[in-house]
Amino acid sequence: MTQNLADTSRPAAEPIAANGAASRGWWRDAVIYQVYPRSFADSNGDGMGDLPGVRSRLPYLKALGVDAVWLSPFYASPQADAGYDVADYRAVDPMFGTLLDADGMIRDAHELGLRIIVDLVPNHSSDQHEWFQRALREGPSSPLRERYHFRPGKGATGELPPNDWESIFGGPAWTRTVNPDGTDGDWYLHLFAPEQPDFNWDNQAVADEFRSILRFWLDMGVDGFRIDVAHGMVKAPGLPDLGGSDQLKLLGNDVMPFFDQDGVHDIYRAWRKILDEYPGERIGVAEAWTPTVQRTANYVRPDELHQAFNFQYLGTSWDAAELREVIDTSLDAMRPVDAPATWVLSNHDVTRHATRFANPPGLGTQIRTAGDRELGLRRARAATLLMFALPGSAYVYQGEELGLPDVTDLPDEVRQDPSFSRQAGQDGFRDGCRVPIPWSGTEAPYGFGPTVGGPSWLPQPAEWAGLSVEVQTGDPTSTLELYRSALTIRREHQDLGAGTSVEWLETPADVLAFRRGSFVCTVNAGAEPVRIAAPGRILLSSTEAVAVDGETVLPADSTIWWAV
Ligand code: GLC
Repeated sequence: MTQNLADTSRPAAEPIAANGAASRGWWRDAVIYQVYPRSFADSNGDGMGDLPGVRSRLPYLKALGVDAVWLSPFYASPQADAGYDVADYRAVDPMFGTLLDADGMIRDAHELGLRIIVDLVPNHSSDQHEWFQRALREGPSSPLRERYHFRPGKGATGELPPNDWESIFGGPAWTRTVNPDGTDGDWYLHLFAPEQPDFNWDNQAVADEFRSILRFWLDMGVDGFRIDVAHGMVKAPGLPDLGGSDQLKLLGNDVMPFFDQDGVHDIYRAWRKILDEYPGERIGVAEAWTPTVQRTANYVRPDELHQAFNFQYLGTSWDAAELREVIDTSLDAMRPVDAPATWVLSNHDVTRHATRFANPPGLGTQIRTAGDRELGLRRARAATLLMFALPGSAYVYQGEELGLPDVTDLPDEVRQDPSFSRQAGQDGFRDGCRVPIPWSGTEAPYGFGPTVGGPSWLPQPAEWAGLSVEVQTGDPTSTLELYRSALTIRREHQDLGAGTSVEWLETPADVLAFRRGSFVCTVNAGAEPVRIAAPGRILLSSTEAVAVDGETVLPADSTIWWAV
């Protein structure tokens, strides 16, 4: 089923400024915009976003001021987990377009000076992947079973799973197969949905296949990969029991026999060599959930990947002391490995930060209540200015530049998150951050699709008419214009962007202030306004700042950028 580009004589898309000095280490301070292809722009009116839609909106992303675009998976997939279940790693799913559309998108992006990062899903495939289907069809003696984790069950008749591991989406991490003759067969491992069988990375064919897939996309001109479940591929020998239930609570706190095993680093060392063979500094970004930022740093040692998501930052409440601590720990952890710190507030797996900050702290990253929307947006705007002022690279999730809240009241029957319907797994409210974004007009789908009144795969709230790109453009008080201004200043100011440290300044409680050369950032994370002696001239503010008697009032929940 693997597709080929119709015109194979076409040279690959040119890399951006491959040899230009200005592009060296471009990823060290890049602002990377995450496109969730299902929900970004729908060119053909079927209610599902697609690659021609993304392509048509690249000028918007260029004008927003980002450096690169990361796209969640658009590969051939039955969509059991919204594309994170890949049936063919070298084909574009027809719902998103064709390989030619991908090629055109990469070329257009490069012409605009935007880099393209694609999502790679190496921990598991779809159960519809040709290897897995053959492994099932050919029965217990199939050599293809060695590419996955097939095991006999425990108990008198093999009726119990081979070990006690639980799926992240709920229920056991094992599903029993049926033999070709109709009898009960072995079990296979899936850390996520049953439609996502885990690969066995001790098998050479798996490692070879992924090196070839990397080259396939690098040859097409992509600038890097976001590596899904980058901490999951290697399992502890013998697949030992964990010895307890409610294992999800341990995620991110402990090294598990299926997560963050030291063996994964050999894979990244091999991949780094491949990335380095290509011109233009192609990068790898780890989605690695680890117990500590120090362990995250292992993924970005000089001979491994370039960046890793900072989930500790994403999980931090809107609290001055906690923010300061996570900023320090993150910078300290990255310094010894000479990797940039990264900063992220939202993505397709968590409740949008405008809604997280609208709710009381401590509710985690899957929230079902709208909270105080005005407060949430105010804090979200302040949090964004803080994030863009920090040294390193920052991630923006589509729609956060519009200040979109999570859609917390989606009817259960439209939800598609596979963990929603499974018991005791990840809460499964991820659809709320995946609702198609509003571009223009007063009626759904608000320019997401071409036809007024046309479909969108998840319903959009009526209030989103007032949050569209069209409505916010040119309004100096809008969140979109705040992002545009912030990214312009970040690009132009010599002291913003890359770096390894900040100089903290003395402040009252609830206030954070740091200096970077001739730049100062002040954050009031408290509920009361605070007066400070102005450190310089205001460059940008997340909200109206007021000067009184030679002092400046930092309004509650605000961030101000200063030139000093
Ligand atoms: C990653 C993805 C998430 C997906 C999971 C399984 O965490 O970000 O969306 O469900 O991996 O592939």
